[in-house]
Amino acid sequence: MSSDTGSVQVDTPATGSLAEPNRHGYHRFSLGEFGFERDEYFAHITWPTGAHVMSVDSFLRALQRDVAWNFFYGIVNFDGVFGTVNHYGTVDIFAGRYNDAYRKAELDYLENLETDDIRGVFMAILDDWTNEGFDPFASPAETGTAFGEKHGSNTAAVSRVRVEAKRMVGLPGDEKIRDDAGGHPVNRQFADVAQDEPVVEARPGYEDRVGGFNLAAYLSRSPVTWNPSIVSVCRDSLMCPTTEEYILPIIHGNDRAEWFVLLSDEIVWEVEDRDSGAKRATVTMKAGDVAAMPADIRHQGYAPKRSMLLVWENGSADLPALISSGQVSARPVEF
Ligand code: PHB
Ligand code: FE
Repeated sequence: MSSDTGSVQVDTPATGSLAEPNRHGYHRFSLGEFGFERDEYFAHITWPTGAHVMSVDSFLRALQRDVAWNFFYGIVNFDGVFGTVNHYGTVDIFAGRYNDAYRKAELDYLENLETDDIRGVFMAILDDWTNEGFDPFASPAETGTAFGEKHGSNTAAVSRVRVEAKRMVGLPGDEKIRDDAGGHPVNRQFADVAQDEPVVEARPGYEDRVGGFNLAAYLSRSPVTWNPSIVSVCRDSLMCPTTEEYILPIIHGNDRAEWFVLLSDEIVWEVEDRDSGAKRATVTMKAGDVAAMPADIRHQGYAPKRSMLLVWENGSADLPALISSGQVSARPVEF
């Protein structure tokens, strides 16, 4: 081991956690040639051609999504420099790959890893670096601080599993409707949302196949932000509503089109070219607005107060290849 002088030197190229915690109480980690270290305020990332620093609260919020979503669709940019690309079985971990300046200076760097290996190390970093009282999924107004010397942990929060209904929330054997008794109180910003549930009268024999639930009530009881839940599935059509507040902690680079339906309040989307980061649009969505996000962009949302967003995903495994080969348009609609 090297002594801890505050440098971000990685001690060995082996993947995993390095034995001794640093003087702030946090372990160092490595993944291939990438090194990860945190201090009281920052996450430091190193790779053979460079180094990068992020505020540790932003880093942990992004890491939390990447882990919980199993690397999501396409690219998860933690910021304009560092992130992951999902190849559905393997994952690229990159620095500067989708950043014009890094590319031109030939400072970008990428490694391809087995999904299980990167997930294991990312989960270990998330657990080790998250202090007691900090919840990376919560809105900033509803969590304690990420900063400071290592104190405690919040394993229950960082190992939450994503809601993934098999058919639909509320159907027999599927994800449950949320209520107070189940530990899902109404969020402070959704106190006015009606909580009545529909009465479903299925014909005898169809009780297992007919259902209904109050989506607004369900969302009003979400304890987390920027975390789409799969609430209904029809073949590849996935309804993934979510409640949003503050800033989407990742800049998502699409590998397929996504549709957004804003169910309440307002979200501003900064939309950039997926590969260069060049600015493409600012989309301000108000309640009732529908937006189609193309497959060649990246986007980050800003929600001034808690809002309800329906994300509609096409989960087909064939789409990334169909789009990158030009057989299917990157744009879901032409105007
Ligand atoms: C997206 O990248 O499309 C996305 C991710 C998380 C959300 C909403 C949208 O909560
Ligand atoms: Fe997206």
